[in-house]
Amino acid sequence: MNVLGIETSCDECAAAVVEDGRKVLSNVVATQIPFHAAWNGVVPEIASRKHTEWIQAVVREALEKAGTGPGGIDAVAATARPGLLGSLLVGLNFAKAFAWARDLPFVAVDHILAHLYASRLDAAGTSAGTAPLPDYPFLGLLVSGGHSIICRVEDFNDIAVLGTTIDDAAGEAFDKVSKHYGFGYPGGGVIDKLAASGNPNAFAFPLPHLWKGNPPGAVHRCDVSYSGLKTAVINQLEQFRLSPRQEDRDAENANIAASFQRTAVDILLRALFNALEDTGLRTVVAGGGVAANSLLRLRLAERKDIRSIFPPLELCGDNGAMVAGIAYRYLQKGESSPLTVTASARVQGFKRRYP
Ligand code: KG4
Ligand code: ZN
Repeated sequence: MNVLGIETSCDECAAAVVEDGRKVLSNVVATQIPFHAAWNGVVPEIASRKHTEWIQAVVREALEKAGTGPGGIDAVAATARPGLLGSLLVGLNFAKAFAWARDLPFVAVDHILAHLYASRLDAAGTSAGTAPLPDYPFLGLLVSGGHSIICRVEDFNDIAVLGTTIDDAAGEAFDKVSKHYGFGYPGGGVIDKLAASGNPNAFAFPLPHLWKGNPPGAVHRCDVSYSGLKTAVINQLEQFRLSPRQEDRDAENANIAASFQRTAVDILLRALFNALEDTGLRTVVAGGGVAANSLLRLRLAERKDIRSIFPPLELCGDNGAMVAGIAYRYLQKGESSPLTVTASARVQGFKRRYP
């Protein structure tokens, strides 16, 4: 069964065709980064306009690359939540219209669950798909520009949130630090590269103290916070500006990036390791844009007692393949969505209140 998956929840206009929930036949991602870079962040109005302009061509390319046409598609899926409302509506309505016109089943997909499904996809030219798939349950680590979620994944459509951010998401912290230092946009990939030549111990940025309760640590053991780190790194900018020589600046850039990245990953891993300890689970499946981070991958690979599974780099960020993949699982269970389903910007329970 070939499913066409459409993803327009943020600034990537994406479509893919996936066979039987596993084999990626095509995966087209048209990024809007150049259109948002001047603002160092996604401008929702620009994002939805670009999706409207691009969606038809992106879907056409996905069909062509899969070696098929509309007649070769058996079902259509699109991200319906969470995300930017205007952006979501473009992909969702396009997908509904496609399904209606050809009388195909339609599936409205949750973006968070789709990210957690990405590592189950078999993408050509990558090592993904060759390793045996992990059995449920496992620990999910969903880290993106909008979310930081540590969860117990019971099934493809069933997660229990164990920890989340109490303020900024992990990717958001990368983006904001990068914006303040003028490193570039989006910040995650830029900082990751810059950090490679820096000293991660050059600056000692603080870890948040979230753990309260009796005994200490009883609550928030699996939660994260990034606003304190972000503020500390940005405050360092004043000192940094005093550095007069360009070569000093370049070295400082790299040191700041490396020290920030080390702390950002430490924050995530501290919560993740607590979740592993609490649940007794030994498999971690990551997803989301920050799952592309080289230090995060390295640090998890070092834990030989844990099996850690990451999607291939091109499936970490937003893409249509994860949407098509998970949709197939719903269809297998005989579940599809009515064409009356609409988009929602938020999902309850993913951002916990604090304390
Ligand atoms: O999943 P995604 O494409 O979109 C959302 O659902 O938010 O994630 C985008 C986020 C951005 O914040 C970006 O800076 C971050 O993922 N990111 C990274 C890396 N590559 C992308 N963060 C850290 N290291 C990276 N290599
Ligand atoms: Zn995403």
